[in-house]
Amino acid sequence: MSALVLVGAQWGDEGKGKITDFLARKADCVVRYQGGSNAGHTVEVMNEKFMLHLIPSGILYPDTLCVIANGVVVDMQKLIEEIEGLQQRGIDTSQLRISQRAPVVIPYHKKIDELEDLKSGIGTTKRGIGPAYADKINRIGFRIADFMNGRDFIIDRFKTQVEYKNRIIRELYGEEGFDCRELLDGLLQQADILKKYTADTSLLLYRSIQEGKKVMFEGAQGALLDIDHGTYPYVTSSNPIAGGACVGSGIGPTLINRVLGVAKAYSTRVGEGPFPTELQDSTGETLRERGAEFGTTTGRPRRCGWVDAVVLRYAARINGLTDLAITKLDVLDSFAAVKICVAYRYQGKLLYEFPENNQVLEQCEPEYLIMPGWQKDISDISEYEELPVNARAYLEKIEELTGVKQTLISVGPKRKQTIVNYELF
Ligand code: GDP
Ligand code: IMO
Ligand code: MG
Repeated sequence: MSALVLVGAQWGDEGKGKITDFLARKADCVVRYQGGSNAGHTVEVMNEKFMLHLIPSGILYPDTLCVIANGVVVDMQKLIEEIEGLQQRGIDTSQLRISQRAPVVIPYHKKIDELEDLKSGIGTTKRGIGPAYADKINRIGFRIADFMNGRDFIIDRFKTQVEYKNRIIRELYGEEGFDCRELLDGLLQQADILKKYTADTSLLLYRSIQEGKKVMFEGAQGALLDIDHGTYPYVTSSNPIAGGACVGSGIGPTLINRVLGVAKAYSTRVGEGPFPTELQDSTGETLRERGAEFGTTTGRPRRCGWVDAVVLRYAARINGLTDLAITKLDVLDSFAAVKICVAYRYQGKLLYEFPENNQVLEQCEPEYLIMPGWQKDISDISEYEELPVNARAYLEKIEELTGVKQTLISVGPKRKQTIVNYELF
């Protein structure tokens, strides 16, 4: 039995796509279990770059089954565009499977996300994620299955929802509403196109794991964006943490045997919200430039800062991390010194655990350990022992502070730019 959950250990964009693709060479199945097209996972293979939003980052291997499970909110139009985009580049998408239980992101969700974000200032990706999950929890949402039983099955409920959403859009925001018929026609057509990919994905995953196949769950976003455990309200509306993999795919926790956290060798965040190690100076600018830190989904510049071991320890705890992959170590190549946040200073005291209270978090100052840099290009190194001694000391300090052993070190976006310390499956 072999099931691995891969999760972001920071605020998203840790390089989950690259690591998933790297590990997927050995996986039979890669599963997305939460989030939606807010995710932007970049995979570089040969000289091609693939940006994946809804499709799991295992899709570039023809024999790997890729599952969009029940926990993902699916924008069917975007998914079709993503499938067609891959097909046009010669990628076989026949191994894609989609749960009919997945909630559908409807154009009114995106409109409301856009309008409400102006008020809340969260800085969402405007992909309709919050409103779609809100409807799911409020039991007024629609699942993919709802659009597969013909117009008569859904028309009354759908009409009620469109009227309700139009009232919000028109009366609260003075904007144009949606035409019910046009909207429904589009969704029915999209569901028809996607029908051939649908499957009972919970059953499929259960059987695969029982048969001894290697199943990997690919988290979107990151631990600090988790709706329950992140920096609420500056979070996404799902559970990216490892526990979310069970709920979001319909398998039990006893089937999971490893949890891999992916963390950058520094920190970034897109959108608003607390970020203790943020650097609003030329060092932050250097990280952004060297790391090409601009959002995959929205193109926004990412906020940058030093690595935060308090955050990583917290991520290790709430995910039950068994292993860690450190990415983008090469981005630190040019620095004469590198810093690790080892604790927070709050009202004169040192805090070693991530605070529960956001107001406390906002007043925390990072306490840094300063280490010498390596000032050497490491992007071609493929063996751990060949890394400069200062780079190894930096990694080993992170390992000591987090208590999680490092399986992979990534020194560039390509598959071959990956140092393997030990095999995961
Ligand atoms: P994800 O959302 O966690 O999959 O991460 P993104 O794809 O949004 O952002 C990570 C970016 O860093 C992508 O452009 C990757 O191609 C790139 N990347 C991943 N690993 C490395 C690495 O080790 N070094 C460098 N320089 N870039 C990397
Ligand atoms: P991947 O999977 C980084 C952020 C948004 C915003 C907050 C809420 O590529 O790591 P949402 O649209 O989800 O309601 O936005 O979450 N966010 C991400 N940040 N990477 C992501 O995905 C993100 N998905 C959402 O910027 O702050
Ligand atoms: Mg991303």
